[in-house]
Amino acid sequence: MATMAMGNLGYHEGEIKERKRLGSLYHRLRISLPCPIGPIIPGQFAMLKIEDRGGIILPRPFSIHNFEGQEMVPWLDFLFKVVGKGTGLLAKLSVGSPIMVLAPLGNGFPDPPPGYKALLIAGGMGIAPLFPLILRLKASPSPLYLFYGAQSQDDLICLPELINLEGIRINIATEDGTAGKKGMVTELLREEDDEGGDQTVIYACGPGPMLKAVADFAAERRRSCWISLEKRMACGVGACLGCVVETKGGYKRVCKDGPIFEAQEIIWRDDA
Ligand SMILES: Cc1cc2nc3c(=O)[nH]c(=O)nc-3n(C[C@H](O)[C@H](O)[C@H](O)COP(=O)(O)OP(=O)(O)OC[C@H]3O[C@@H](n4cnc5c(N)ncnc54)[C@H](O)[C@@H]3O)c2cc1C
Ligand code: FES
Repeated sequence: MATMAMGNLGYHEGEIKERKRLGSLYHRLRISLPCPIGPIIPGQFAMLKIEDRGGIILPRPFSIHNFEGQEMVPWLDFLFKVVGKGTGLLAKLSVGSPIMVLAPLGNGFPDPPPGYKALLIAGGMGIAPLFPLILRLKASPSPLYLFYGAQSQDDLICLPELINLEGIRINIATEDGTAGKKGMVTELLREEDDEGGDQTVIYACGPGPMLKAVADFAAERRRSCWISLEKRMACGVGACLGCVVETKGGYKRVCKDGPIFEAQEIIWRDDA
């Protein structure tokens, strides 16, 4: 049953329906919701809040990785990497555990105009929000290309699901050369034929320096480019101003005004 206790306003009490370990550091969780939510657009995210023995820990933001339908969505999938306390606790949850979910949050990726080529660039966990975008765009006649980069073959966690999809061309890069081309995914991008010309829309999610390189590439070629930004978040709904980013239109909240921004709107810093 949904809980609406003070401090949990807007949160749904979900339940872990499935959990899968993907390699040593990655996990996928399916969370069923007490009532369907939606509509959901690929690129949107959720705040997940779990109980620790010591109490409730701060909610953490995660991209919505997969979902069924669009309007009345009964469950959400999340893909995450264990990096600290919150993700460590999430990784220990078992099937049947309750989990508080606030979703969908933020904006999503806009569709490319009809006939435009879509170039998707994922760095590591950046594949999480691009995966539902791929599922949506593969139904359209637009040419679809994915550039998927990671440190090593074991970090290409979604590759087994993607490799069998029809209608998408996948290019791989790994930093250690264990799969695809050795090097950065953005180097691979530069070698790509530009046959879509200015009828190309770029979508990217990944580490800050990768996003900056993609934004530079898009600016050079005058391509429209949408990126998903990550900032540490506390509230996820625009109230705490903890996640601001500097843009040409002033400071914007990544949680409320993003996380999807037009790359040219961002004022990039050297430390990205
Ligand atoms: C909109 C959005 C969507 C996200 N989607 C995903 C996703 O789909 N899968 C996923 O694995 N992660 C995602 N993240 C990052 C995720 O929120 C953090 O990894 C998580 O909050 C870390 O919590 P923790 O308690 O385990 O780590 P903490 O103990 O809080 O931090 C440990 C370390 O993790 C890193 N870290 C923490 N928060 C962030 C952050 N927001 N961005 C980058 N690095 C961070 C820092 O290096 C930090 O030192 C997303 C972040 C945002 C803002
Ligand atoms: S996390 Fe509170 S304003 Fe964005």
